[in-house]
Amino acid sequence: MEAVHFTLGAVNQALQREITSDPTAPLKATFELINAQLYSVEERIRQQARAFDPAVEGYVAYAIESQGKRLRPALALLAGGATGNIGPSHFDLAVVLEMIHAATLVHDDILDVAEKRRGQPTANAKWGNAISVLLGDCLFAHALKLSTSFQNGEVGRRIAHAASEVCSGEIIQTQRRFDLKLSVADYYKIIEMKTAALFAAACELGAFINEAPPEVISALRTFGLRLGTAYQIYDDVLDLAGDEFKVGKTLGSDLRKGKLTLPILHLLQNSSDAERQRYSEIILNGDEAAVETLVERALASGGINAAVSTGRKMLREAAAQLELVPANKYREGLHGLITALDGMIGRYAT
Ligand code: IPE
Ligand code: IPE
Ligand code: MG
Ligand code: MG
Repeated sequence: MEAVHFTLGAVNQALQREITSDPTAPLKATFELINAQLYSVEERIRQQARAFDPAVEGYVAYAIESQGKRLRPALALLAGGATGNIGPSHFDLAVVLEMIHAATLVHDDILDVAEKRRGQPTANAKWGNAISVLLGDCLFAHALKLSTSFQNGEVGRRIAHAASEVCSGEIIQTQRRFDLKLSVADYYKIIEMKTAALFAAACELGAFINEAPPEVISALRTFGLRLGTAYQIYDDVLDLAGDEFKVGKTLGSDLRKGKLTLPILHLLQNSSDAERQRYSEIILNGDEAAVETLVERALASGGINAAVSTGRKMLREAAAQLELVPANKYREGLHGLITALDGMIGRYAT
């Protein structure tokens, strides 16, 4: 009898561990908090395609109605909730940010020659680069049109600034492809611009719309910057070590396109001169098999672990900023995003 109990207990503990170690559990809790509002945002996103000529509407609908995680809208709503009411302006902010994000993805997939996004063929895979460049432009233009509707013109100005940061970040990244002199500081600058700037705008403006005190707005902005940076580090780890089917988009393209991300920079920095020479040769001219060995080296040498640790450090810095934000369930929701991302990136530590 005792033995049976012992066995069951052990099984249950294992099961319990499995349940509590699901890193996306806090993500679900956070999204439930704003479920009703996200539903309205989704509705408004769907309406946007109708603003276009019938000949164009289908492309726009395809790009914005696909199954994105809606992280930036969620941040805008949570920052709004944490600093007061979630009002109509927060919904508008959420829609605008998601449209800018969609525009950058359409363009990014052209640059990366990616075939899959959000579990579906990319716009470039479906209609080619010419239509896709123009589709991205339409999305940007529409987002900027929407961003003029805020009562306080400063909101639109900050949105436009963030959009220009994202595009500039993508330009710098493209300029520095295959550049073996890229430093870790250069890498941070690129990812802050191309990814964290929009996260920061979502958080900052969610609070700004509620006329929160300057120090709270500033804390939420820094929170968004750190969270966004950690998120891109996570995404860069996924590109090397993730499962394409689960992630739903083309992976493994960073190295092939000459994008040197944190795990690879770490590997290069911690290799002997001879090894570095060999790895550089692979980055510049290696075939698929050679690139595969490089990824394995990044794993074995601790390059991925180092990126995971850095991502986690960024998340701790993000969490520290939340101390300056009023304590309520929405702040807890923002905390939940940190916990979830920490668990998600932690899966790749060996
Ligand atoms: C993808 O962003 C691009 C990066 C900044 C890594 P998301 O991971 O938020 O993409 P969707 O919107 O959920 O598809
Ligand atoms: C993020 O970089 C792209 C933008 C911010 C536009 P990635 O190129 O890594 O994004 P994914 O992996 O294609 O989603
Ligand atoms: Mg890409
Ligand atoms: Mg990526």
